[in-house]
Amino acid sequence: MSTPSDTRIAIYPGSFDPLTNGHVDIIERGSRIFDSIIVAILANVEKTPLFSELERVEILREVFKGRPNVKIETFNGLLVDYAKQKQAHVIVRGLRAVSDFEYEFQMALMNRHLEPALETVFMMPAEQYTYISSRLIKEVFTLGGEITGLVPPVVEERLREKAKGRRQKAK
Ligand code: PNS
Repeated sequence: MSTPSDTRIAIYPGSFDPLTNGHVDIIERGSRIFDSIIVAILANVEKTPLFSELERVEILREVFKGRPNVKIETFNGLLVDYAKQKQAHVIVRGLRAVSDFEYEFQMALMNRHLEPALETVFMMPAEQYTYISSRLIKEVFTLGGEITGLVPPVVEERLREKAKGRRQKAK
């Protein structure tokens, strides 16, 4: 399928295990700048992700229902190949703190090496989300900490369902 060359399609790739309010903030900012933004969930990133690929797709679709220019998909393999297939010219990544910079800089330059026409654009989330990461959400939730306001309500619900399921299994 061809798209008009002036249609600005961006890809926001990640693991989203789970989706946080920091991710939501970046997706909303991106959706205001680009004609469409494809949230691309890396399939099978970990051998044992907390949420399956399908669960992550369902969560993201639920959060962004009614936002026609936000599309939720999964991808495998090299991001640059997927971007080419989607006729996207931009990769969006969020930068929370200086500590993100080194990894993001390496990835952006490797992607540029692989596909010079693909540009990486970094966006900053609102300050209140700068300390949130999927890894910390998982840890805090598992240890009984409060995560309300840090993830969309549907993520909190699904986390609670998962924890309940695990407790019942352990009985
Ligand atoms: O949310 P994450 O885990 O930081 O996202 C990392 C992601 C998915 C953007 C990165 O691992 C990726 O693009 N993987 C696809 C494989 C690939 O293209 N690797 C080379 C990147 S330089």
